[in-house]
Amino acid sequence: MPEGFAGKVVWLIGNKGMLGTELSLLLEERKIPFTGTDRDVDITDEAALTGFARQKPVNWIVNCAAYTAVDKAEDDGETCRALNTLGAANIARCAKSTGARLIQLSTDYVFDGKGNAAGDAAPRPCREDDETNPIGVYGLTKRDGEQMVLENNPASYIIRTAWLYGAYGNNFVRTMLRLMGERDEVNVVNDQRGSPTWARDLAGLILTLIETADKPGAVVPCGIYHYTNEGNISWFDFALEIYRQGRSRGLLVKDCKVKPCTSTEFPARVKRPEYSVLDKTKIKTTLGITIPAWDKSLGSFLGILTKDKGSQWKI
Ligand SMILES: NC(=O)c1ccc[n+]([C@@H]2O[C@H](COP(=O)([O-])OP(=O)(O)OC[C@H]3O[C@@H](n4cnc5c(N)ncnc54)[C@H](OP(=O)(O)O)[C@@H]3O)[C@@H](O)[C@H]2O)c1
Repeated sequence: MPEGFAGKVVWLIGNKGMLGTELSLLLEERKIPFTGTDRDVDITDEAALTGFARQKPVNWIVNCAAYTAVDKAEDDGETCRALNTLGAANIARCAKSTGARLIQLSTDYVFDGKGNAAGDAAPRPCREDDETNPIGVYGLTKRDGEQMVLENNPASYIIRTAWLYGAYGNNFVRTMLRLMGERDEVNVVNDQRGSPTWARDLAGLILTLIETADKPGAVVPCGIYHYTNEGNISWFDFALEIYRQGRSRGLLVKDCKVKPCTSTEFPARVKRPEYSVLDKTKIKTTLGITIPAWDKSLGSFLGILTKDKGSQWKI
């Protein structure tokens, strides 16, 4: 167990989701005591949360549970709000009443994707204190969740991230590898920019935050932080790199043409932010970390997939 974790117990909420599964594995690997729950302790039920917390005292709560079906959310606003806003508030109150410190996950979708706060001419990465302006139900409920967390328990950390992928759950990299294996051609949108983020890197960052904040005399101010992998590209560029690395590693065994298109060719229920790049200066300087570049992390992920091909991580 890392030194900073002696005597600490982490409660991981949403342990069966994409990020939650990755974080569970990392906690196990590092021998950090933790307890994980998912739908078995419903975050929309405050009594269930506090009942669980009373039975199993914890020092830290990490909330990875959320309603993440961005398109479906447009027609299912009530359920989405119950999880992302009211559920987040329930967890914040539970953390406060039990004395645990909370890390709440949030999203680039709290911004409108214009990246031009304060009338800047060209888009620039969004900073933590830039004004939010969500353009869909998912983003709105996550933004309101952030506010509820900070209102109910100001001693909380909120980590906004974006474009997550990994070995578990539905995500862009797994979908691309599957489609590129099946088809001769895939069309990918070229008019939305962001920073692909490996869920395992984010899981590592969460543990670094806990470890650093728990060090005697350390000052890690509570509040909002941004974390993604370094660099930014379009979904089309991302797909090209997945194809290039997938082919060179033998994960993809046949040719497939990757073609750019516009988002109007992929009508979706909700508009996606066009420029979804987050400024990470605050987390880098606060924790003294360097963040891996998106293409390097993609390489690390595909390297693991290649080694484990045919075992537990089915593409
Ligand atoms: N995925 C991304 O690209 C992305 C980008 C930016 C930010 N984020 C944020 O990062 C966090 C983790 O995202 P993720 O993609 O790992 O999410 P995910 O895979 O959708 O996992 C969410 C987990 O919460 C569970 N859950 C649903 N309702 C619940 C309830 N009432 N009580 C307790 N658990 C419940 C889900 O179960 P079911 O699967 O059975 O519903 C699932 O296991 C979220 O806060 C998300 O908003 C994600």
